[in-house]
Amino acid sequence: MSESYKIKQHGVDEPTNPSANLALSEVLAARFSRRGVLKGTGAAGLAGLLGGSLATLAEAAQVPFARKAPVLGFKPVPFGFEDKVVVPEGYVADVLYAWGDPVGIKGAMPAFKPDASNSAAEQELQAGMHHDGMAFFPLPLGSTSSKHGLMAINHEYTDDGLLHSDGMKTWSADKVKKAQAAVGVSVIEVEATGQGGWKVVRPSKYARRIHANTPIAIQGPARGHALMQTEADPKGVEVLGTFQNCASGPTPWGTYLTCEENFDGVFVNDSGKLTELEKRYGISNKDAGYKWAWEDFRFDAQLNPNEPNRFGWVVEIDPFDPKSKPVKRTALGRFKHEGATVAIAPSGHAVVYMGDDQRFEYIYKFVSKNTFDPKNRKANMQLLDEGTLYVARFDADGSGQWLPLVAGQNGLSADKGFASQGDVVIKARMAADVMGATKMDRPEWIAVHSHKPGEVYCTLTNNSERGKDGKPGPDAANPRTDNKFGHIIRWNEHGGDAAATAFKWDIFALAGRPDAAKPEHKGNIKGDYFGSQDGLKFDYNGVLWVETDVSTSTVNMKEYKGMGNNQMLAVVPETGEFRRFLTGPNGCEITGIAFTPDNKTLFINIQHPGEPDSERSDPDRPLAISSWPEGPKAGRPRAATVVIRKLDGGVIGS
Ligand code: FEO
Ligand code: CA
Ligand code: CA
Repeated sequence: MSESYKIKQHGVDEPTNPSANLALSEVLAARFSRRGVLKGTGAAGLAGLLGGSLATLAEAAQVPFARKAPVLGFKPVPFGFEDKVVVPEGYVADVLYAWGDPVGIKGAMPAFKPDASNSAAEQELQAGMHHDGMAFFPLPLGSTSSKHGLMAINHEYTDDGLLHSDGMKTWSADKVKKAQAAVGVSVIEVEATGQGGWKVVRPSKYARRIHANTPIAIQGPARGHALMQTEADPKGVEVLGTFQNCASGPTPWGTYLTCEENFDGVFVNDSGKLTELEKRYGISNKDAGYKWAWEDFRFDAQLNPNEPNRFGWVVEIDPFDPKSKPVKRTALGRFKHEGATVAIAPSGHAVVYMGDDQRFEYIYKFVSKNTFDPKNRKANMQLLDEGTLYVARFDADGSGQWLPLVAGQNGLSADKGFASQGDVVIKARMAADVMGATKMDRPEWIAVHSHKPGEVYCTLTNNSERGKDGKPGPDAANPRTDNKFGHIIRWNEHGGDAAATAFKWDIFALAGRPDAAKPEHKGNIKGDYFGSQDGLKFDYNGVLWVETDVSTSTVNMKEYKGMGNNQMLAVVPETGEFRRFLTGPNGCEITGIAFTPDNKTLFINIQHPGEPDSERSDPDRPLAISSWPEGPKAGRPRAATVVIRKLDGGVIGS
């Protein structure tokens, strides 16, 4: 392996889209039609029918449809410059589950060692690093409990400078094994303590870690495809592992969709010959500094050219069955999946909204062929294997189209490389190029309004390459060159129907700072300002929550100087006023959002506290940037899930 590799930052998002498209171009959002599915079903009965994760729907059902917009009641917090989590007066934030905490498997609960000397085998039984998307599933399944539940939590990537006692000074197969054990997903059982706090239940029969070596089934159109076959899996039906798990979404049938984002960052092909497919998905002669391919040749794409094709998918996990095998749902397409937000159309079809987070990439949605059955959980377990994958085109007149990606239709022909639907989903980016989709400014999370069916919001985090060096210039939906602060786009599906193929769109907010020197950095934010928004979710009351991920190379520097650490804000879309709710410790990203059904407990994740610009900490100075959450006596900073509640027991945001 070449010694001259350079660390390519996690998610640096160099564009790999050379297509000549016109540059113009929760659980449920679940907008069951209240008139349809909900007719004659009381909220309690409905919750029983639908299963625990449908708490959302039950909650929504208790709220009159045309209710008045909620009012934010908290006093905003200022920009944050301290190494701690700051929440408004009257709120409290407690750490629940930090990297290295035992997940809670009976008889196998190794304690975290602050010098990072836990073995790979121990790490497989502990919380991974870099918590990201997550969801809360009330227990028991079928209840709307706000006191007891399961949480599925993504662990996106590793900082190997912190993960091993001597960082990456030496390198070994054991270190790779430990890194592979530190990514993926945790399933934990959580419970309110009765004294206002929350705890992880240990041991728990649900406790589980899924990581980069967990067997995962391949289902949908790519199952068995020639491009999915490897020496270890000649039939192309089972993959080891999931990683780079970014955002996520719960389904109305109580499963968890975890999304593989920057998977290219662990593969290396230094043969000097890259296929068009590899180039389009960012596989190159460098990895992102993880060095897995040095010791585990599965990640050497020259030796195993099809292995990268087995990543970049949405993986469905049943958190209620710790023995169930996770499934890669290939019908949802292969790209750098940010998240997967599920809505149910009035017709009962399941709709999954998904962003491809890279500069100039696309927004997709999947509409299932069959309909969701609220009375039969098992019948929904294959719902995401058949259906239509669409990609979005945003037109200049404020209208938009969902363009179907179907083999044999609209130019997706065999001679262009799309002989089967398997080809289309494996090469989804290339199929979207053919269809003329709109190149966006890095689509991150997508949120569906909790009270307005078919009203959808997507964070476009930033794109400093827009209009630069011959790259696509501004268009109506991505209107700024050098878009360093990003924006939030909104669309309304035709007829309020998530399955519709046409929509109207507008720009909900242009992030930025009013005191910026350049007009393209000023934005139009009413209230507290921000940039590089990423996490996005509606609570049960119709408040939209926004989390920022300004990269560690920029946070409180350059155009962001004076804006402090990453933050979380709330906005009621009907008023458009943003209010800062939380600021995080040094070097972190704020991500992950989950509410209990009563909207009185909010879970968020603090990802990579202490992260330096290089994304690899100095093992000799692990506390150089942050010692959160344990303070100066800590061994090292630790990503963690944080529980936030109001001291008076009230609703979050009030
Ligand atoms: Fe993992 Fe696009 O954030
Ligand atoms: Ca993200
Ligand atoms: Ca991001």
